[in-house]
Amino acid sequence: MCGIVAAVSGRNIVPILVQGLQRLEYRGYDSCGVAVHAASLNGGTGGLQRARSTARVSELMAQIQTDHVEGGTGIAHTRWATHGAPAVHNAHPHFSHGKGDASQPGRVALVHNGIIENHDELRAALQAKGYVFSSQTDTEVIAHLVDSLYNGDVFEAVKAAVLQLHGAYAIAVFHKDEPQRVVGARAGSPLILGVGQGETFLASDAMALAGVTDKIVYLEEGDVVDIQLGKYAVQDRQHQPVSREVKTVQAHSGAADLGPYRHYMQKEIFEQPRAIADTLEGVEGITPELFGQSAHSVFKAIDNVLILACGTSYYSGCVAKYWIEAIAKLPCQVEIASEYRYRDSVPNPRTLVVTITQSGETADTLAALRHAQGLGLKHTLTICNVATSAMVRECELAYVTRAGTEIGVASTKAFTTQLAGLFLLTLALAQVKGHLSAEAETLHIKDMRHLPAALQAVLALEPQLIAWSQDFASKENALFLGRGTHYPIALEGALKLKEITYIHAEAYAAGELKHGPLALVTSAMPVVTVAPNDSLLEKLKSNMQEVRARGGVLYVLADGDTKIENSEGVNVIRMPEHYGVLSPILHVVPLQLLAYHTACARGTDVDKPRNLAKSVTVE
Ligand code: M6R
Repeated sequence: MCGIVAAVSGRNIVPILVQGLQRLEYRGYDSCGVAVHAASLNGGTGGLQRARSTARVSELMAQIQTDHVEGGTGIAHTRWATHGAPAVHNAHPHFSHGKGDASQPGRVALVHNGIIENHDELRAALQAKGYVFSSQTDTEVIAHLVDSLYNGDVFEAVKAAVLQLHGAYAIAVFHKDEPQRVVGARAGSPLILGVGQGETFLASDAMALAGVTDKIVYLEEGDVVDIQLGKYAVQDRQHQPVSREVKTVQAHSGAADLGPYRHYMQKEIFEQPRAIADTLEGVEGITPELFGQSAHSVFKAIDNVLILACGTSYYSGCVAKYWIEAIAKLPCQVEIASEYRYRDSVPNPRTLVVTITQSGETADTLAALRHAQGLGLKHTLTICNVATSAMVRECELAYVTRAGTEIGVASTKAFTTQLAGLFLLTLALAQVKGHLSAEAETLHIKDMRHLPAALQAVLALEPQLIAWSQDFASKENALFLGRGTHYPIALEGALKLKEITYIHAEAYAAGELKHGPLALVTSAMPVVTVAPNDSLLEKLKSNMQEVRARGGVLYVLADGDTKIENSEGVNVIRMPEHYGVLSPILHVVPLQLLAYHTACARGTDVDKPRNLAKSVTVE
């Protein structure tokens, strides 16, 4: 998704802006750009300058050097197209040149994340006033709007402009008449403020400023911020001056090192034993307080669970539904956030709303949470990987997973750590509801502690997955089957394969096969089957027979004691051990490796798959 970096400094800030964009590359983008105020450095002259490109950020740097784009005040952006194709004229920063003539020198420079829903009306009104548009973006509308409201003070102009915007935005703006000032504003899209030594920054996330400053202010919904040389001021949504806490964040730069791995996705798959160990660190026993001070009274008060999430996080919620109903004996519903937020549902005030999100900034999940709160569902809890995210701030209770920064667009370690957090939640709910004996608690904790070692053993299967990937590389379709808690694992395996290899993959609950998808099965169709040694094994074996009888080729991830053997049309990878109720956390890993190595064999851009972004901060 789009990324913003902005600065007011006494030095040439362009290399820092570009480095910041490089740190935001993981979010996904299709064009990028930088604008500076050339008169912002001591003794500088000139006005607004910019460089924009549809190539990678590294190539933008070459263009910047050729064009001598230099300044102490600047804004930079990576764009993920929503309105208007990925093209240089749609890339940010956008300039307003004043009324009537787009060839005049630029007056306002602006970058934007989010979507302005009323851009058509605003565009028509601005055109009627004489503004000439040079892009198809909703963003250019804001630049002209700020220009139209400018009366010598860009902070006041931005405050007036945001009152007219409907939708989601994080923006950074400067004006040619105020060379050492940038104004930011946010509503619905993240924006942070970085406090440096005599210089001040804005960015979409703290990682963009790694190595530059670790003093971060997390701006809140509706905030407008004025940054100048060595100082800043924030106003809240009522435009009242407000003091926001400056937090010291850990340096994130280590996350960007690939180490011995070819891609971030591979690195993150192999980080899973460490990520799970970190996520469970300090958990000596089950207690509701793991989720927050008021968790005990909240868990007492609720009689059902509603899980809201998107994508991979949604699939972790689907696994949790099985756990919560079987172990905590609470009815549990899982909904795709973008569906829930727009449908008429029947709110039950005794619901625990659980959001699951790696980033904590996914627009649909945040909107679904706010929708639930609007319906009077006040008990909210999030399983989230970013402690400082909007989601953690807005939920009453939280379990922050410690996967570490996830850079690959395809989520891997975030998923398994979410499952670890959700299993803890299941046990805490079970305890409060009187369904967890001390013996069961001890056994579950023991199993969880052993997970990192069990994951290491699964990762050692990589060479066998590489061998399978050679078969998959030439396919254009694949089916994934699973039952029970492994049905969502099959869904996640299919999502991994389609998002990074572009192979069309579908997952089914294996019992559904003969209700339709069996028609697709021929000898050309690989069928990946997740086969733990659980109570559904014999049912699953029957489904496998249905596939073989139609000539389908099976690729089976089988637990050791399933008695599923290699034979004609049946390829088996033996899982190291059966892991009972936690088995989904292990079975997903070979599916991640299969997708990863198939993508490598097909030569796709593994960490930045086409059309996708890491954090989906727009609808
Ligand atoms: O940050 P979130 O967990 O809220 O993101 C949700 C989805 O966008 C995300 O899981 C997406 O499906 C992944 N790219 C899948 O690998």
